[in-house]
Amino acid sequence: MFVSENLDVNQKGNLTIGGTDTVELAEKYGTPLYVMDEQLIRKNLRRFHESMNKYYNGKGLVCFASKAFSCMEMCRIVASEGDGLDAVSIGELYTAVKAGFPMEKVGFHGNNKTNEELEYALKVGVGHIIVDNISELRRLEKIALKKGVKADIMLRIKPGIDAHTHDFIKTGQIDSKFGFALETGEAFEAVKEAINCENLNLFGLHCHIGSQIFDIAPFQESAKVMLDFIAKIKNELGYEVKGLNLGGGFGIKYLNEHDPAPFETYLEKVSQTVKEKCSELNISQPFMFIEPGRSIVAPAGITLYTVGARKEIPNIRTYISVDGGMADSPRYILYKSEYEAIVANKANQERNEKVTIAGKCCESGDLIGENMPLQHAESGDIIAVCATGAYNYSMASNYNRLQKPAVVFVNNGESRIVVKRETLDDIIRNDV
Ligand code: LLP
Repeated sequence: MFVSENLDVNQKGNLTIGGTDTVELAEKYGTPLYVMDEQLIRKNLRRFHESMNKYYNGKGLVCFASKAFSCMEMCRIVASEGDGLDAVSIGELYTAVKAGFPMEKVGFHGNNKTNEELEYALKVGVGHIIVDNISELRRLEKIALKKGVKADIMLRIKPGIDAHTHDFIKTGQIDSKFGFALETGEAFEAVKEAINCENLNLFGLHCHIGSQIFDIAPFQESAKVMLDFIAKIKNELGYEVKGLNLGGGFGIKYLNEHDPAPFETYLEKVSQTVKEKCSELNISQPFMFIEPGRSIVAPAGITLYTVGARKEIPNIRTYISVDGGMADSPRYILYKSEYEAIVANKANQERNEKVTIAGKCCESGDLIGENMPLQHAESGDIIAVCATGAYNYSMASNYNRLQKPAVVFVNNGESRIVVKRETLDDIIRNDV
């Protein structure tokens, strides 16, 4: 009945997340509210790293893509599970540092890293930097020289794989701002230059083909392309590339009709492809990194809202307006992303209406979704939007000077704030 495995309904007829009553959470902490189930986050991390152990003999590291959901408590959870982190800005690095994250397990990304960011990454001792372009390679060589360090790097490669997903979240094809192109020879030239950099140690290659991808085949294809390239480097330059990062992008169930493959199957098939291809090419099996973001946190989260106005426009549609919107839930206006919603205090009733859930921003496109099945919702009801744990809090804005909601973690019946709700003073904090 519910789209995520941690949702249920209790005897009061209220929706629960990880066993905690969502209506009580809304009363206690107010709305809008992001709620995340710590147990499911941990379970998802473990499913990935246990599969890495089982199918790839543990010769790999699962690096949570913190862009999906970054805060200090999340970094602590990832650290306590023994996993790594993918960070893409000085802000994500800083969050990890402040949380006491083991920085040697961090890969630092970005298609336009500033010198300040590169210097900071070296200063805090990130495990490796994923270099995106030639000017970055040259700048990093100089910065490492000045600091007197030898920095471990990977090169981000565009494998030329077309993943079937939204155009805005595709990244593996040649027309992308990320990485070095294989087809044009750009990637090979970059490898040659990187090998000759005194202060850089090229230990791996990276690729990421996109996000919310359901098929396993494109991941297998990109692994093959990357291994062919590693073999070419070995054969033509006599250089052994030891690490391979296959990125993130595993799709999750947003709607009841979605049916993504389990992570276990993904890792089983990709590991098998890597092993077979390595023996065919006569190269050693690389140390493997993966960077799942959405698949770890999205199903663990929900967003709670209170219904304000109900507006029925005969023969057109019914608008249910809530106390948040595109500022805390930007994915509909950006990608027309669809979600399942439930009236949390009527969770055992039929969802027998189709409505448009609207936000409160001064913008017609500010919708949570259209044509959404929902129980009959009235002013004062609590609506839960499901599977919002990724790319909602992390992409939230203060549009219309709305305060960002709090983030609450639930864990075996207990709840705690991990990010406080912004206050009105937070809104003007930097105004002069
Ligand atoms: N690694 C790299 C290099 C990435 O660029 C990304 C996502 C990931 C890993 C994690 O991908 P995931 O497993 O979360 O799909 N804001 C969009 C998604 C943008 C993804 C950006 N890169 C959305 O809300 O759908």
